Amino acid sequence: MAPKKLYIKTYGCQMNVYDSERMAEAMGGEGYETTARPEDADMILLNTCHIREKAAEKVYSELGRYKGLKANKPDLKIGVAGCVAQAEGAEIMRRQPMVDLVVGPQSYHRLPDLLSRTHNGAKALDTDFPEEDKFDHLKARPKAKRGPTAFLTVQEGCDKFCAFCVVPYTRGAEVSRPADRVLTEARDLVERGVREITLLGQNVNAYHGHEGGLAGLIRALAEIDGLARIRFTTSHPNDMDDALIAAHGDCDKLMPYLHLPVQAGSDKILKRMNRSHTAEDYLRLIERLRATRPDLHLSGDFIVGFPEETEEDFQATMDLIAAVEYGSAFSFKYSERPGTPAAERPQVPEDEKDDRLQRLQALLTTQQRRLQDAMVGRDVHVMFEKPGRMPGQMVGKSEYLHAVHVESDAFSPGDIARIRIVSSGPNSLKGVVAPR
Ligand code: 5AD
Ligand code: SF4
Repeated sequence: MAPKKLYIKTYGCQMNVYDSERMAEAMGGEGYETTARPEDADMILLNTCHIREKAAEKVYSELGRYKGLKANKPDLKIGVAGCVAQAEGAEIMRRQPMVDLVVGPQSYHRLPDLLSRTHNGAKALDTDFPEEDKFDHLKARPKAKRGPTAFLTVQEGCDKFCAFCVVPYTRGAEVSRPADRVLTEARDLVERGVREITLLGQNVNAYHGHEGGLAGLIRALAEIDGLARIRFTTSHPNDMDDALIAAHGDCDKLMPYLHLPVQAGSDKILKRMNRSHTAEDYLRLIERLRATRPDLHLSGDFIVGFPEETEEDFQATMDLIAAVEYGSAFSFKYSERPGTPAAERPQVPEDEKDDRLQRLQALLTTQQRRLQDAMVGRDVHVMFEKPGRMPGQMVGKSEYLHAVHVESDAFSPGDIARIRIVSSGPNSLKGVVAPR
């Protein structure tokens, strides 16, 4: 029998990318192959994001597009996974009756069973936070070769309850995977050709599946021959402990790039966000990190227009950014999320949010560009990932996560070489093989 076809569309964060891979692999065991074309699919799965309103609304407009497909192919199964599934549950099927199944992020191992329950137009829904660990029950990754970079989820959920954020509700309480399972999965990835692993967690530096915390896990991973690079994301400033700071100084495989969101620079707003740290705490932390690893590139997340943010509060965020100098950053207008404390508070007008976001992004772009331009003339280590758009070109990432293009046919994906940066463009660097 010809294999059935599965089309997965992934929204949102890197954890969803990882989950989608794992779901595709689990469905492989049920006779499904993935396809890049929804019109060829026997099953369509949307792996969704609920972090901001726009992200959540995309799901419904995407579902609207599948109406015709379902009319032509009544056996087509349509599923919604991810954080919108968790947050809205059966409401999704009320708004879009063609949806056959809804599955929350902690129940992905139950997907084959849920699918088998959708015969004859029946609906299946699972948004539990089950006792069992989905990763123990999700089918193992098949041994097929793969590219040189991979994500590996080590921690999920969050207990911080920032006043704007849906994650503690959609992903649940903080849970860490035991280190031995993470190490087994990492060794398997390396056997399949992976040379760089990015450890994922909503609050990854709160990881406690190893007695030495995240730093202990990183050092254990660093022992794996063939694994060349380790990264992790996303971290909370309050969980940046001494051991993890020290690892940035002396663990060669840990890359000098850290995503450490602060969200805002005004202590009043930080307090109302329930962040439990001040701007000064954050700046001191950055100083300690840079004392340990002077060339560390920092990245952050910022929210503008949080309820009750004044122009003065906003300026405090701008001052903090000026003090830190970020190598990259993500910034967002505050978006009201149902069920979170901040959604109930007096809101900043939309045009004010737009204006602040523009000014903030202009500052971040200038900083980003300045740090990138400063790489010209320097040598970096690039791990090549794939051919570039131009023939004879390869693209890879420096240790600082800059995309670097090199004109050479000497490299294959996974190779690491010392590259001298010769120019800096809007989104990437160009380099040549560094002279010995
Ligand atoms: N509105 C805007 N941005 C948000 N984020 C989380 N919740 C919201 C919200 N309600 C941002 C934060 C977080 C990133 C993943 O998304 O900056 O770090
Ligand atoms: Fe959301 Fe991160 Fe705050 Fe947790 S720490 S509530 S995931 S923003």
